Amino acid sequence: MIRSAPTPPELLEIAVTVARDAAATAHRMRAEGVSVAATKSTVTDVVTAADRAVERQVLDALRTLRPDDAVLGEEYGAGETGPAADGGVRWIVDPIDGTVNYLYGLPYCAVSLAAEVAGEVVAGVVRNVATGEEWTATAGGGAWRAGERLRCSTETDLGQALVATGFGYAAGRRAHQARVVAELIPHVRDIRRMGAAALDLCLAAEGRVDAYYEKGLAAWDLAAGGLVAREAGLLVTGLAGRPAGPDLVIAAPPALFEPLHTRLAALDASGGP
Ligand code: IPD
Ligand code: CA
Repeated sequence: MIRSAPTPPELLEIAVTVARDAAATAHRMRAEGVSVAATKSTVTDVVTAADRAVERQVLDALRTLRPDDAVLGEEYGAGETGPAADGGVRWIVDPIDGTVNYLYGLPYCAVSLAAEVAGEVVAGVVRNVATGEEWTATAGGGAWRAGERLRCSTETDLGQALVATGFGYAAGRRAHQARVVAELIPHVRDIRRMGAAALDLCLAAEGRVDAYYEKGLAAWDLAAGGLVAREAGLLVTGLAGRPAGPDLVIAAPPALFEPLHTRLAALDASGGP
């Protein structure tokens, strides 16, 4: 059955309401003290009680507000809802992006919530748990923070570009990513590894970094921040015309895209384990 989905602004309104409550819970739980609840892919890939509690809260809120929608989350997967129906909505949530920062009390972690319709992200919000900064976007409606429409960097010289990136949790992957970054860093202004992919994409959306790339992102790392970045004018793709995804995400203003893409392709940035 084809069901008509709400408009992107309607989905964004729901996303913002849910993400604000979720960020408030994450903030409160951080103040109460945080510890590792479990590890996932490696011993450094941690999950805290807050990751689980915040995702549970988001799932419950969405079940109340949008009972027929599907949800994909980092901690509980898609198990509770199954796939989205034809033409239906799927929510994609990272309850805490930047969990290691959260654990260490570093103010660079966020709730990320996006709404996808027919496989396309149409609304997204990223809210910094520590600072309250909040980025939103709708497909075709622009990217916004604090009432200001966002535009990406106008830098045209890769040599002057501040480039954010991140590393995965598995040692072999990190070793490959370190080799790539070692070869890239002589050709850019500098590198930033801040520790939350969704926020990196949002900073790129307002030119607080010029570009961003990373291998190994999951759907919940990319969904909301990727829309914010695209709506601010960045090109967000993988290598050689492939879509952005686990192999590689490159988010760069049009003038920087080609030189950054060329460097990353030459360095086999999507390769390795
Ligand atoms: C991680 C962060 C980090 C990035 C990793 C992600 P998590 O997400 O976004 O910056 O480099 O690839 O897995 O584990 O904190 O939700
Ligand atoms: Ca996470």
